[in-house]
Amino acid sequence: MAIRNIVKMGDSVLRKKSKPVEVFDEKLWQLLDDMKQTLNRVQGLGLSAVQVGVLKQVVIVEYEEQFLEIINPKILATSGKCYDNEGCLSVEGFRGIVERPETIDFEYFDRHGKKKTFHAEGYFARVFFHEFDHLDGILFCDKMIRRVNNRGE
Ligand code: CO
Repeated sequence: MAIRNIVKMGDSVLRKKSKPVEVFDEKLWQLLDDMKQTLNRVQGLGLSAVQVGVLKQVVIVEYEEQFLEIINPKILATSGKCYDNEGCLSVEGFRGIVERPETIDFEYFDRHGKKKTFHAEGYFARVFFHEFDHLDGILFCDKMIRRVNNRGE
């Protein structure tokens, strides 16, 4: 495993669309393991592959002190609307208030190519919306209604 460098805002790769994973092989597992180690080091809630410069639809989200590995996610349903502040490992110096749905249902593939579904609510749902936006080249600051400082004020 290896810590990978996190790409910062201003790098054009963050604006590109990630492609679906087609082969669930050792190269993918290496990427997942590296992303987990990288996320663990920087103590973020989530990390998308594009943030380490790989344009694949791969996301890691911290979940009950473990890491959920999400490949080729597809949102099935959302509901509600809520506002909270969020930040990004690729955006330094500020956070922003962003409108997101309250709940998310999505399907995804695990590292072995097995299809699964997942439901999340509240701030946990927000983390998925944020990460899935990365796969479309979207950053939270594109959507924020107000910029706040790193304490969320
Ligand atoms: Co982010």
